[in-house]
Amino acid sequence: MLTVQNINQYYGGSHILRDVSLTATPGKVTVLLGRNGVGKTTLLKSLMGLVPIKSGSISFDGKPIDKATPYDRARAGIGFVPQGREIFGRLTVEENLRMGLAYKSGSTPVPAHLYELFPVLKQMLKRRGGDLSGGQQQQLAIARALAPGPRLLILDEPTEGIQPSIIKDIGRVIRMLADQGEMAILLCEQYYDFAQELADEYLVMERGEVIARGPGSEMEAKGIRNLVAI
Ligand SMILES: Nc1ncnc2c1ncn2[C@@H]1O[C@H](COP(=O)(O)OP(=O)(O)O)[C@@H](O)[C@H]1O
Ligand SMILES: [Mg+2]
Repeated sequence: MLTVQNINQYYGGSHILRDVSLTATPGKVTVLLGRNGVGKTTLLKSLMGLVPIKSGSISFDGKPIDKATPYDRARAGIGFVPQGREIFGRLTVEENLRMGLAYKSGSTPVPAHLYELFPVLKQMLKRRGGDLSGGQQQQLAIARALAPGPRLLILDEPTEGIQPSIIKDIGRVIRMLADQGEMAILLCEQYYDFAQELADEYLVMERGEVIARGPGSEMEAKGIRNLVAI
């Protein structure tokens, strides 16, 4: 569904992504691991069109998208949950969810199943985003990305700074979405146990390069934990 081939990206003179290739497949969670500063967020932003790539190709459903705007990539079916959540603090929960539907027609309702995934959001519809806890904001950011019904969901460190009980809930939702079989999930994580538990496939980045990859079931045996230990 998503095919990334040999992409390179620079910030000024610094070579940030070096010949990165990956795929994400419906029904599977592909986990991207790596220490701070290796280029994970830059990679995800380049997939979303938020930073330009210098060379390489990105295709979605067999069509090249590397020249498409972020808006067009969202419309094509890619949902993005940014690092740090980027909730609109002064807007209500409901308004934040509606932002996720911004490119749909004005009458498109917020899908009710989102409140089954994240019941807390239903209780808080009229609260301001900025008044939610970090974990609730993360759930809101995921629900916002899911609102238009993406076929690829990209998450950038959803467990960062979040309490364990909500991390578990988020893990359950990610697994369930993948198990439904139609959505591909690309999850960037530094929390190793969470990543291993969810990974159908894994990739490890170091200094902008993919240095290891394989099935999630082999992560422990291959010592991936030590590769990404802080
Ligand atoms: N907007 C930017 N301008 C210049 N350098 C940046 C910018 N964003 C990130 N970097 C640098 O790019 C590298 C990769 O950053 P990032 O993709 O955020 O890594 P990660 O998400 O793996 O922590 C780091 O060295 C970082 O300092
Ligand atoms: Mg990052």
